[in-house]
Amino acid sequence: MYTSSFSALVLISLIGSSTAFNINFINKCTYTVWPAIGDAPNGQPNESIRFGDRLNPGQSVSHGIDDHAVGVRGWGRTGCDSNGANCKTGACNGGLVCTDAGITSHALLSEYGYGSNNRIYWDLSFVGGTVNIPAELQGPDGQSVTCKNTNCPTNQAFHTSGDYGAIRNSALGGTYNHIFCP
Ligand SMILES: *[C@@H]1O[C@H](CO)[C@@H](O)[C@H](O)[C@H]1NC(C)=O
Repeated sequence: MYTSSFSALVLISLIGSSTAFNINFINKCTYTVWPAIGDAPNGQPNESIRFGDRLNPGQSVSHGIDDHAVGVRGWGRTGCDSNGANCKTGACNGGLVCTDAGITSHALLSEYGYGSNNRIYWDLSFVGGTVNIPAELQGPDGQSVTCKNTNCPTNQAFHTSGDYGAIRNSALGGTYNHIFCP
């Protein structure tokens, strides 16, 4: 009796302290996109956060991430083989689910990280890469940024590491829409 109510209390407090936000990938492109999520705080892959899938045009998929994670990135891959590997753009090591957090994907990334004032700081970035798939990133509170090949100002996405005007921040939780071909 004591043990079971103690376990219930521990469970409740764990649920109370561990919240999540969702990355919802929406494929509005005319082509198939293979979305991926990885985590690499300070450039070191953390394989406890990883996700991969395949989206035909019009499909979407959502994945939950711990609110306190840092170094999280989501991106899309194109031209992959039937295993979700050997992609033409956004490629990673590991196939459908990347094992290297996409640190050499050279793609347009959506980035998320827990920071000061108990907020999630988020942006689009193609530092060292290209806009492989145009994207809009919508925060949970009505803010959004958009980067298309022909129109991607530095207050919408990092082109180089100093483009801090691209950063937005929002309260914990909620859903971020990473829209391919907005
Ligand atoms: C990896 O991510 C998990 C989940 O957010 C976290 O609990 C863990 O501390 C992280 N590990 C490192 C080394 O950052």
